[in-house]
Amino acid sequence: MAEIAFSESVTDDKLRGKVVVLTGGAQGIGAATVELLYTKGAHVFFGDWDEQKGQQVTKRLQSQSTKNGGSVSFRRVDVRNHDMQLALFDDAKNAHGCIDIAIQCVGVAEPAGWFEPEDLNLESVRKEPIPIKDNVEINLTSVLWFSRIALAYLKGDGTDKNFSKSIVLTSSIAGITEAPGLFAYSSAKHGVIGTMRALRRFAPAKYGVRANAICPWATDTQLLSGVKESWEKQSMPMNTPVDVAKMILQCAADGELNGKAVFVAGGRGFDTEEGIDRMLPQWMGEENANVFLKGQAILGLGGNWAQ
Ligand SMILES: NC(=O)c1ccc[n+]([C@@H]2O[C@H](COP(=O)([O-])OP(=O)(O)OC[C@H]3O[C@@H](n4cnc5c(N)ncnc54)[C@H](O)[C@@H]3O)[C@@H](O)[C@H]2O)c1
Repeated sequence: MAEIAFSESVTDDKLRGKVVVLTGGAQGIGAATVELLYTKGAHVFFGDWDEQKGQQVTKRLQSQSTKNGGSVSFRRVDVRNHDMQLALFDDAKNAHGCIDIAIQCVGVAEPAGWFEPEDLNLESVRKEPIPIKDNVEINLTSVLWFSRIALAYLKGDGTDKNFSKSIVLTSSIAGITEAPGLFAYSSAKHGVIGTMRALRRFAPAKYGVRANAICPWATDTQLLSGVKESWEKQSMPMNTPVDVAKMILQCAADGELNGKAVFVAGGRGFDTEEGIDRMLPQWMGEENANVFLKGQAILGLGGNWAQ
């Protein structure tokens, strides 16, 4: 499997002075990413629905001196609100005239009690499961909006042959494998991988923008609190938020990385798309794989669906 290594020098070189929009930066992986970008000299505009924690991150970073000239700015954003997402992109564009990188980190855990046999019966099923809809809105619909807004703001004029503009989405191990007990979350995170796959040829060709997805395995944030103890008891691999942030920065900075789904486990990153593509004849069958690839070539960049 193709390992993706974090390069201090590539990220130093490619992120200094870059204008970055990030959602979900008030804590956990997003906050670690904001901090790392800031120390590398990027201008970071981040949003989160947690105003208090967002302001705390901003104040803490602004009180540290940054030798690389980075800056950080926070705005309260609930990603379910399209105008709020737009306002965050406008902040960055109005301040610097352009945006280079868009990183989506927002995610919420599975709402409990909607699929278990003790909760689900012919009476309870009559109640519309609004928390499931909310979960998918936050974990998937907002990501699709984010990606579309990002394309509009990052859109190049076709002259950037280094592919310095990029989108990084945060999926999960639950977006590429079976994830016990995670019905809404896993459905949405598979959808995030779908968004990245929809973008991976289209966005570079049409907009000069790369797109990658990060798929963390267990990472030490509040999101993992329910299973953390049993995980640690079995000495299973655990990422720190900074481990995942480094993979996000690498995907954002490295012009060679596009269309990757980076599984992050125990602090190391591995592209799982490469293996899926390589093994296509094995899992689909050789004949099916050949004809499928012919079909893909006919579809091209997908411009004919709407006719
Ligand atoms: N921690 C893990 O083990 C793990 C594993 C796989 C994937 N992930 C993914 O990594 C990303 C970051 O997760 P984390 O572990 O740092 O969790 P976290 O809860 O620490 O951080 C998530 C952030 O998103 C914000 N947020 C949630 N809903 C929002 C909304 N509607 N609008 C704006 N902000 C909102 C929260 O306030 C928080 O700051 C998520 O997408 C998560 O699904 C985490």
